[in-house]
Amino acid sequence: MRKSTLRNILSLLLKLIARIKVYLFSKIPQNQIVLLKELYFRFLKFLKEINLIMSNSYSFFSYFWYPYKLRDSRYENLLRTIYKEKSCNLIEVGTSDGEHAYHMIKTAQIFHPINKVNYYGFDLFEVFMEEDMGKEYYPKQPPKFKYVKNKLEATKANIYLYKGYTKDTLPKFIDTFKKENHKIDFIFIDGGHSVNTISLDWNNLKNLMDYNTVIIFDDYYDNDEIIQKYGCNLLIDSLNRDIYEIEILKPQEQSLQDWGILKINMVKVRLKHQIQAEKNNKF
Ligand SMILES: C[S@@+](CC[C@H](N)C(=O)[O-])C[C@H]1O[C@@H](n2cnc3c(N)ncnc32)[C@H](O)[C@@H]1O
Repeated sequence: MRKSTLRNILSLLLKLIARIKVYLFSKIPQNQIVLLKELYFRFLKFLKEINLIMSNSYSFFSYFWYPYKLRDSRYENLLRTIYKEKSCNLIEVGTSDGEHAYHMIKTAQIFHPINKVNYYGFDLFEVFMEEDMGKEYYPKQPPKFKYVKNKLEATKANIYLYKGYTKDTLPKFIDTFKKENHKIDFIFIDGGHSVNTISLDWNNLKNLMDYNTVIIFDDYYDNDEIIQKYGCNLLIDSLNRDIYEIEILKPQEQSLQDWGILKINMVKVRLKHQIQAEKNNKF
């Protein structure tokens, strides 16, 4: 049987499984769901081993993989990017409860040996203060460091978590990281939401960028008043388009606030040179 026919059959099969999944997951106990997900992960790794997963087969991957609430949300961009870029070394500013981190790591592990995937997460964890909620436009208390560490270490990836304000933790981290000549291929900036904190995070993290690094920002808002204080708009709009390739990612999501609806996108930034090289080589 031809590979493309086999791929079509598998794709149809996964669509069917995805439909059944929604029904079944409401009936199955949580521990069995975890087991099922692990089996699917192993199945994907097997497909990769026999070269059935190609770089453009993202939809194939996504049918069953996503937790239901992730599908069609803006967070899908994280997994799609990691999948397509085959990222292995991940930074997330704003790990929070580690839910998206967990799925980002598992996605990276499809293409890389499980223990070769590195995740570096930054958050306030218990250091989070009442006043940070208003200042950083973030309404929830993040969970405890230990809880998140245990959850992420269950993936068997190398997990490095840094507790504290990124204005303090990032410069030290970057200094050591560069000295040790490590590489980063995926960065997600989603910590404090104030214009000032996002700019600080960018100014630190851009030092780790090379032509293989993709940076995703959350919190690109569709509101002229809000963006003066919060979100990445002012920063993104100030970046030099000759140096950076910038893409506002879909879907746009709507978040209900006290004053009305806030529309939010993610933004992808990478060094332009690589994009040009990729286009020339028709990757
Ligand atoms: C929107 S949540 C992150 C959500 C997470 N990235 C996800 O996809 O599920 C923002 C997180 O950033 C953390 N945070 C806010 N300000 C911060 C700062 N200045 N330094 C480090 N972490 C910060 C908060 O504790 C919170 O957990």
